[in-house]
Amino acid sequence: MVAPLNDKQRVAHYAADLIHNDMVVGLGTGSTANYFIDELAKRRVEGLRVTTVASSIISSNRAQQMGLEVVAIEHLSHIDVYVDGADEVSPQMALLKGRGADLVREKLLANASDQFLVLVDNTKMVEYIGQKHPIAIEVAPFSWEMVSHSLLKIGGKGSLRANGDGLAMTSHGSLVLDMTFDSSLDSKQLNELLNAVPGVVEHGIFQGLATEILIGENEQIAHITKLAE
Ligand code: 5RP
Repeated sequence: MVAPLNDKQRVAHYAADLIHNDMVVGLGTGSTANYFIDELAKRRVEGLRVTTVASSIISSNRAQQMGLEVVAIEHLSHIDVYVDGADEVSPQMALLKGRGADLVREKLLANASDQFLVLVDNTKMVEYIGQKHPIAIEVAPFSWEMVSHSLLKIGGKGSLRANGDGLAMTSHGSLVLDMTFDSSLDSKQLNELLNAVPGVVEHGIFQGLATEILIGENEQIAHITKLAE
């Protein structure tokens, strides 16, 4: 008997069906992105011609093991579609990402793509960014004290992310501050504030980047689409 799909699998399979021959496809990181990678690899076996670029070493390894062609990010300036999950999605399509350790690549790919499809189940939908999770802020290791001080001045509270007995380190070689802010600051304001703090390498707010959110809920898929500007 074939096991029924869960909501993350359902949106991942739907997104894989949207990929056409000869597209350059960005691969996200996380459990939902993995479902997408696996389904895309199945479509390749069925004849789909596709080139991929990965947002992390772990996704690159998975895609290669599944037989997908993976091009190094260094060789591309533009991609057709980037497909990734998120930790939170606001009604205005702002995202919070960064539970993983690859924010720099993830935001680069999101920004370089014509379409950024975000795959979530309905547990990821929030009223405002920061509602359920702290905001991940990547900092150069030598700058974390100064950045923490700057963030304190704009109301940030938090600490360095731990990993076992040590500190978590991103694949870019940064430390991660997990910070909470006053909920009166919306994602647009926070994005602008964080972009302006010296020493911040990248942060987990993806503002104005997603073009479509696919939400799996009760065996259905709901869509939120960015209006043309
Ligand atoms: C990694 C991410 C992931 O996309 C996010 O954590 C969602 O993960 P999952 O699909 O496992 O729920 O932002 O940095």
